[in-house]
Amino acid sequence: MKISVIGAGYVGLTTAACLAQIGHDVFCAESDVGKLNKLQADILPIFEPHLGDVVRVARRRGKLTFGQTEEAIEKSQAIFICVGTPPLANGDADLSAIESLARMIAKSARGYRLVVEKSTVPVQTGSKLRRHLRLHNQHESDYDVVSNPEFLREGSAVEDFLHPDRIVVGVESLRAAELMREIYQPIVNNEFPCPMHSKCPTTSGVRFLCTDTNSAELIKHASNSFLAMKISFINMVANLCEVVGADVGRVSEGMGLDPRIGSSFLNAGLGFGGFCFPKDLQAFIRIAEKSGCDFSLLKEVEKINQSRIEYFVEKIRKELWVLRGKKLAVWGLAFKPNTDDMRYAPSIALVESLLKEGANISAYDPQATEKAKEVLPDVTYCGDPYEAARGAHAILIVTEWSEFRDLDWDRLLSVVEQPLVVDGRNMFRPEEFSSRGFRYLSIGRALTPDTPSAPGETRDGTLDSAIQNITA
Ligand code: UDX
Repeated sequence: MKISVIGAGYVGLTTAACLAQIGHDVFCAESDVGKLNKLQADILPIFEPHLGDVVRVARRRGKLTFGQTEEAIEKSQAIFICVGTPPLANGDADLSAIESLARMIAKSARGYRLVVEKSTVPVQTGSKLRRHLRLHNQHESDYDVVSNPEFLREGSAVEDFLHPDRIVVGVESLRAAELMREIYQPIVNNEFPCPMHSKCPTTSGVRFLCTDTNSAELIKHASNSFLAMKISFINMVANLCEVVGADVGRVSEGMGLDPRIGSSFLNAGLGFGGFCFPKDLQAFIRIAEKSGCDFSLLKEVEKINQSRIEYFVEKIRKELWVLRGKKLAVWGLAFKPNTDDMRYAPSIALVESLLKEGANISAYDPQATEKAKEVLPDVTYCGDPYEAARGAHAILIVTEWSEFRDLDWDRLLSVVEQPLVVDGRNMFRPEEFSSRGFRYLSIGRALTPDTPSAPGETRDGTLDSAIQNITA
């Protein structure tokens, strides 16, 4: 099918490339001319595993072209709207890009159009879009408006698009349902050349869920808010674990064995960032408030998440007493590993708080340095973790990049000013540090066994290692 995708940001570019990958003829529009020129030179504005290859192959095959919005509207019957819906100051989603696009489509589209809202939007946006298209309709065109929320995680967006656990469409006509089924058929049947696996993992059948538009829009906000709630829940439990001498990693492991709970999104740490959870949580709360519903539960989720940074700074302050003049090495800046995205990254609030107390920050991130410089100019950026650790009074693990797992700790011991690691993502187990010469602090665990001031009695790390052998 010929498909237009409007917006070549993180969602739009992934959607355009993957729809081309599964066989459609895709035209992707981007209003930012600089971005458009880069895309036409195969330069992607974002770092996302596999996306560059998928775009290049699709372009070479003539299955993906880039251009202007007007052309996109005229070229295809199906138009995927993937424009940004950033938060306004009051937490509402800014829908101005969608509203002006609706007027553009109504003004220039001739004939039937299937308008697919993929951008994350508040519930009832689809019905407003439908009304707007009809109101401004200038060529007796016929429209279907569909909600098709995205469930893409940064760092695995291509995988999540091509091997989803579910595809959700909200429709108000059988014709729209059938067209959406046709668009996603190759994914539902797992019949497409996969760019990641020579032989695709046998996905247990992708659920293609057809609902009404309002329900589909709510599924997105409700899903993200629930995941955010899981994270704030385990962070709340982590604080208790530290006081009573339990290990939150073990607690979440034990909880996660219950399939009704599940082990994912139960990692305690610095909390959630990124361009989705914080903004979707705010938008969902605003939607509920405007509808007269009490969502104070989600306000608590937000409050717990915002408190993680001060909690972490207090842990560092307790160790170093005075932060002013101290050199702190920050490992990891992106809001999570395998992305260069700094939007709402916990590292921003953390570094700003430490700088405000007069600390000097040296930082290393495998991908996010360029984007970090735009938001954290007063940081010394380093080329590797060792350079960042030179002369440091503490190493702070802020993003759990896998490359931090296999470092030379003897070499690190020789360059730091003080052998202290404060792990904001519980990348390591305390017992891994019992023979590294570093004092290791983390989230939701009693202090390392050799720490005299650990609350309650300290556990011997060797016992923990030994009983792991008994764990089945
Ligand atoms: C999220 C949703 O997972 C995805 O389905 C939706 O479409 C977009 O928003 P994303 O924001 O890319 O995806 O990242 P995700 O992997 O969900 O992590 C979000 C944040 O939560 C990160 O800052 C991560 O560090 C944090 N997190 C995640 C935790 O603190 N603990 C966890 O257990 C999991």
